[in-house]
Amino acid sequence: ILNKKIVVLPGDGIGPEVCNEAIKVLEAVAERFGHRFYFEKYLMGACAIDATGNPLPEETVDACMEADAILLGAIGDPKYDNNPAAKVRPEQGLLRLRKSLGLYANIRPVTAYDVLLDHSPLKNTRIAGADMLIFRELTGGIYFGEKGRTADSAYDNCTYSRLEIVRIAHLAFQSAALRRQKLTLVDKANVLETSRLWREVVQDMAQGYPDVAVDYLFVDNAAMQLILNPRAFDVILTENMFGDILSDEASVIAGSLGLLPSASVGNHVSLFEPIHGSYPQAKGKGIANPIAAILSAAMMLEHFNLQKEADLVKEAVHNALEKQVLTPELNPTSPYSTEQVGSFIAYYVLEGALVVPH
Ligand code: IPM
Ligand code: MN
Repeated sequence: ILNKKIVVLPGDGIGPEVCNEAIKVLEAVAERFGHRFYFEKYLMGACAIDATGNPLPEETVDACMEADAILLGAIGDPKYDNNPAAKVRPEQGLLRLRKSLGLYANIRPVTAYDVLLDHSPLKNTRIAGADMLIFRELTGGIYFGEKGRTADSAYDNCTYSRLEIVRIAHLAFQSAALRRQKLTLVDKANVLETSRLWREVVQDMAQGYPDVAVDYLFVDNAAMQLILNPRAFDVILTENMFGDILSDEASVIAGSLGLLPSASVGNHVSLFEPIHGSYPQAKGKGIANPIAAILSAAMMLEHFNLQKEADLVKEAVHNALEKQVLTPELNPTSPYSTEQVGSFIAYYVLEGALVVPH
């Protein structure tokens, strides 16, 4: 029996809607297994700018530091995207949060679900069985380098230190060792100095993981191979921006961006968030897919070492997919809303089968 304090950052757009469904499912887990999860909501993103002028208020950071885990919805608002001169932006909240919590590794699983093969625009024969884990570096690189702007020029620096590469690479190697023993480093080492450092460090470290086969792909080629031959990938390790781009691309293999969860880990508290954005066009319409948020909650349960609970949530999600309880981006004629999909999954968690993993 566990007691856990979970800070929820619902954020903007569809963030609050998908968070509510993830909370519903976590409450069902608590009920069925006798755990106690306490949820506390705080502001981050555009909603925080509106309320306080600051995309990441001090009290949000303080609450996160005290939490056992953090659940995040999504952040972003078109009023900032369409105003490039805006000095304060919702994204700054998320980036500062990642940095201040030291969340250097963002782990994004991508699976081609058998029951959804027909929902991907890619050929079944290519994607069936694809199952990969993307390790995206999250607190370095071009996102966090020095930036500058004059009237007619602008720059964003990309810097990586050996330490920043080593710490996430260890996690990726360890994970590959427990999976299909394959790690692909994605970089642009034919052009970028930072990529050459990544390659050097990973080559050195590979000797410490003799069971893991390592290969190296340039990011342009990787973008193509991901779609041509997704089954060739097991663990992908890459820097911040390449990981951002490749994981959105990889979501096409799963069938929808609305299915992909992530875990951001570092030295202290971990954060769990869907990889999708705030989808402002869908806000309040009940059409957002809550599964990415719910699977992020399942990753949180795994992080709490609640494997049985996490497996049940994943089984409940599979069950919903199998029964075609889908939001409209996966099936335009689907009658199911965000809330109904969430309730269907939560109900299974409360009442459904409990498959003992073997
Ligand atoms: C993501 C998002 C963020 C990122 C944005 C909102 C800053 O796209 O989590 O993938 O680029 O990291
Ligand atoms: Mn992204």
